[in-house]
Order: sequence, then structure tokens, then C-alpha cells
Amino acid sequence: MTTHEDKDLCALEAAHQESQERRIVLSLTVNGKPVVEEVDPTMLLLHFLRDKLKLFGAKEACGEGECGACTIILNGEAVTSCLVLAAEAQGAEIVTVEGLSKDGELSILQQEFVFEDALQCGFCTPGMLMSARALIDRHPDPTDEEIMEGMGGNLCRCTGYHQIFDAVKRAAKREREELNRS
Ligand code: FES
Ligand code: FES
Repeated sequence: MTTHEDKDLCALEAAHQESQERRIVLSLTVNGKPVVEEVDPTMLLLHFLRDKLKLFGAKEACGEGECGACTIILNGEAVTSCLVLAAEAQGAEIVTVEGLSKDGELSILQQEFVFEDALQCGFCTPGMLMSARALIDRHPDPTDEEIMEGMGGNLCRCTGYHQIFDAVKRAAKREREELNRS
């Protein structure tokens, strides 16, 4: 006799098999390293980074593209990874907050966030840093308006936005100075 439990098990197995059949092979570069992984085509990029690659810097907060906590850089653009499918990153170059430091040394941008006390709980900070990174890459000498626009999608509940603004400004200046010296 077939019980309800047997039917549930069959349905689960069928769903599992269907999801296995639908999987795609994703090939991309993350923080300078090639990555090849099988994923479900419905998986979000944020979940791919956190669950598959164990890169926990990008945070899940609103899940609706409103807070910026999940921001990463995709092909040079700051994007909210909670709104992007992993499949859309096929062949892409991704940078997450884990890719900012080099050989265990914080980048200038990270150093300036520390110097300016531009964080308290730190939950929003990885997303802030990635928006700031994309902003400075695009505008090495950003105006106040460009900083406000570039950081406008990132919300912070506990730090004054002044410190964040100053950290971005100082980092851009120091990076320009480093570039002129080299
Ligand atoms: S978690 Fe992606 S924007 Fe808030
Ligand atoms: S430092 Fe806490 S939310 Fe920004």
C-alpha cells in the first residue's frame, strides 16, 4: 500500500531530479581566480557567493535591492547581488570585499574607513566598500555630488554618513597620490 509519506518522498525525489537536470555550468572569475561550478539557474548571485564559494562578505539584508548590503562589483559595475541571478554572471569578472586586501594588508580604501571610524556594527561596510571601489575606479577624483550619488544606494543604520563620505574622499586622494608617485 502506498502511504502519504511514500508519495511525498516520490514528489521530493522527482523535484530533486528535475533540479539536477536543469543545472548549468557556470564559469567566471571571482577575485582574480577562475571558478567553475554547477548551479541551479534560479540561484541568486548573492547565494552563489555565500553558499557555494563561502565568501560571506556580501550580506543579505533587504533582499530587494534597497539597502546595498549585498553590493559586489560585476564587470566593473557596483551591483546588488540579491537582484542578479548567478547565471547572469556567466563569463563575468567579479570582485567581492574579500578581493580588496592584498597579501593580508588592507587596501587604502579599507584603511581610510578604519581611520575615519566609518563603521560601527560593520554589517553595511562590505557593500559600502564595493560601491566606493567602483566609484573611485570610475571617478578617481570624485566631486561631492559624485560621492553622494555613488554611495546613495547604500544604507547604514549606525554610522554617520559624514565619516563614510570623508573616508571615500581621503581614499581617492591617497590613491591619486600613490599613482603620481609610481
Ligand atoms: S540585500 Fe541586496 S540590496 Fe539589500
Ligand atoms: S555600520 Fe552598522 S549598518 Fe552601517
